[in-house]
Amino acid sequence: MPKKSPKKPVRKSKFSATTADKHDLYQRSVQDPETEVFFINRFFRRLRKRAPLSLREDFCGTALLCSHWVKSLKGRSALGIDIDPKVLAWGVKHNIDALGADAARVKLLQQDVRAASPGKHDVVCAFNFSYWIFKTRPAMVAYFKTVKKGLGKEGAFMLDAYGGWESHEPMLEPRAIKGGFTYVWDQDKFNPITHEIMNYIHFEFTDGTKLEKAFTYDWRYWSIPELTELLTEAGYADVRVYWDSSTDDDVDDYKPTTRAQNQPGWLAYIVAVP
Ligand SMILES: C[S@@+](CC[C@H](N)C(=O)[O-])C[C@H]1O[C@@H](n2cnc3c(N)ncnc32)[C@H](O)[C@@H]1O
Repeated sequence: MPKKSPKKPVRKSKFSATTADKHDLYQRSVQDPETEVFFINRFFRRLRKRAPLSLREDFCGTALLCSHWVKSLKGRSALGIDIDPKVLAWGVKHNIDALGADAARVKLLQQDVRAASPGKHDVVCAFNFSYWIFKTRPAMVAYFKTVKKGLGKEGAFMLDAYGGWESHEPMLEPRAIKGGFTYVWDQDKFNPITHEIMNYIHFEFTDGTKLEKAFTYDWRYWSIPELTELLTEAGYADVRVYWDSSTDDDVDDYKPTTRAQNQPGWLAYIVAVP
């Protein structure tokens, strides 16, 4: 996934394609749950002047964010939804069981995010662009409507999106990861007519081994105006785009705005309220 701040390569490593666990590599390379909890909290407080308590994480994968969410405040609960039973089982073993008593505040559901789910939540989030699996406007609107039904009266739906002219280029973007392996974001194909994209994540190791196509992303590229229009069409009363206004590459400072300077690569958040 597009990320900023590349880190310096590390030479010796315990990681190898022969022993590596792709979910562990993914979490180390792509996920930053502390920052996500910080943003969710900040965006929600700005809207509702209180701390969000209940989170539904769509496309939760290993439920790493759910685990950090319940740890972040007593009284917080999380519902993680993912269609893949294997990734959920990995998450229970590696992220949820480790919570001890706090694990009781996490529920995981194996189902399609478009199916009805229990409860109303302060926040529903779909991060790391997973919702781009929906390739048509009716499919995306149907998903957004399902999410709306899962939001409380004071709820907010939070999404991320990436773009910039480099996001349409075929490219390999390697990034050295702490611990000693290389994560490679592969923007393989972009169809300018349908905006269908095919991206992969590969991992490379210091012993010369590789895990190619560890993850495949067969998505449609969605622009911010398309997404904000579809959220409005799905019935959201207010849709705001949060853009990184920081001039320091090492610091993120997302603020709601309607104007931004064009950039080769950017990552933004969208917050929609019912
Ligand atoms: C890229 S991972 C996201 C992991 C994590 N949430 C993150 O932010 O990095 C995408 C996940 O979406 C799940 N998924 C794909 N289609 C789905 C659907 N229709 N309903 C629920 N989960 C789905 C996959 O099983 C996979 O675990």
